[in-house]
Amino acid sequence: MRSYEKIWEYIDKKLHISDIPLKGMPKYALNLTYWTGGLLAAAFIYQALTGMLLLLYYQPGATLTNPNDPTSALAYSSTMFIMTKVLFGNIILTSHQYMAYAMIFLIYVHFFRNYFLGVYKKPRGLAWSVGILMAIITILLGYTGYFLPYTEISVDATNVGVNIAGQVPIIGNLLASLLIGNGTMAERFSRFLDYHVIILPTLLILLLGLHMYLFEKNEAAPPLKLKSEMKKIKWFPTYFIYTIAITLLLWGLILVISGIFPLSLLPVYGSGIPITPMPEWYLMPEYKFLDFQGITPLIEIIAISLLILFLIFLPFLDRSESRDPKDRPIFVAIGSTNLSLLILLTAWGYEQPAILIPVPEWVSIIFIIILFNFGFTYFMYKRYRSEEL
Ligand code: HEM
Repeated sequence: MRSYEKIWEYIDKKLHISDIPLKGMPKYALNLTYWTGGLLAAAFIYQALTGMLLLLYYQPGATLTNPNDPTSALAYSSTMFIMTKVLFGNIILTSHQYMAYAMIFLIYVHFFRNYFLGVYKKPRGLAWSVGILMAIITILLGYTGYFLPYTEISVDATNVGVNIAGQVPIIGNLLASLLIGNGTMAERFSRFLDYHVIILPTLLILLLGLHMYLFEKNEAAPPLKLKSEMKKIKWFPTYFIYTIAITLLLWGLILVISGIFPLSLLPVYGSGIPITPMPEWYLMPEYKFLDFQGITPLIEIIAISLLILFLIFLPFLDRSESRDPKDRPIFVAIGSTNLSLLILLTAWGYEQPAILIPVPEWVSIIFIIILFNFGFTYFMYKRYRSEEL
């Protein structure tokens, strides 16, 4: 027996890992495209671990320890302390932020992969709808975390979100007060921190449990072209090692990037330095959309709510049997249009933040995008269909 096998045997004897009743997966799942969700879970665990370390030093609140110095505000000065005085503090904080970006980016990858491959179809509809809720929670985690360092841009940008929430008909006031309580900074800190470290992570863990349970029950969706059943590989040790490997790869990558590009703290809230209150990249499309002439916060909220409802109920809307993208041209075109708009609005937001776009300009650009995506999908559909005949 080789030495690493002996080590495995020892670990397994102590921890009974191979007795864990995970089903194991077919061989086709030993491929990175089947691990976008696994990478997401690894990112989430990293966030929980580094978040706990940051909590040891972070102090919420806007109270000034020196009345003449805005940088002495508790939240800001404790963040500065983490970045400059705590051993490995900067790399932990930087990597916490970069991993948040990675997690949101991976959500898009996982989402679009499952969308275009029709993985939301029977029997995975519930896993899909639960996933949409998890995506919303992850974005809210990013949004609430953004506020915590109490920089000018983080407070101003989160205010934009609070104002938008306040404009929802009927429940606007309730939503805004859910976010910021009575509006004082003390209350705002208390709420945002509670959401960021307790409420949203707990919800995410519960939903992740359900998501994983459903995945275990239904197994990984097979490749579109799979002709016959594939032999199953046991969960332990192959998939176990694969899980550890991709986890360490992701963590290592983010740590290296954090070491090369460490963050520095932006000016404190109240410093008087004029800034454009821009959100982080993952909320840029929603931000830029508001620059379109005629689009009010209310219209934006209605559009986002409709999109969320469409995504949650997608398994009921796309009822055809086939998962193959070439059999579902309408849904493929809707997906690619949304992906194009997402990329366009993000780039546009950075290029021209808070600059009004006149109606003829934005209407014609959106029209071209829709036309191109639907036209191209239709062309591909025709081409592949005729090849098949
Ligand atoms: C924090 C967010 C999320 C986490 C941690 C997560 C985690 C996972 C994991 C670990 C898997 C198992 C296999 C794989 O890696 O694909 C999985 C599968 C799946 N997820 Fe997610 N997920 C998240 C969000 C989402 C979202 C936003 C959607 C889409 C709406 C989604 C839909 C699905 C579906 C349909 C499967 C089954 C995939 C298959 O059978 O191949 N998940 N997820």
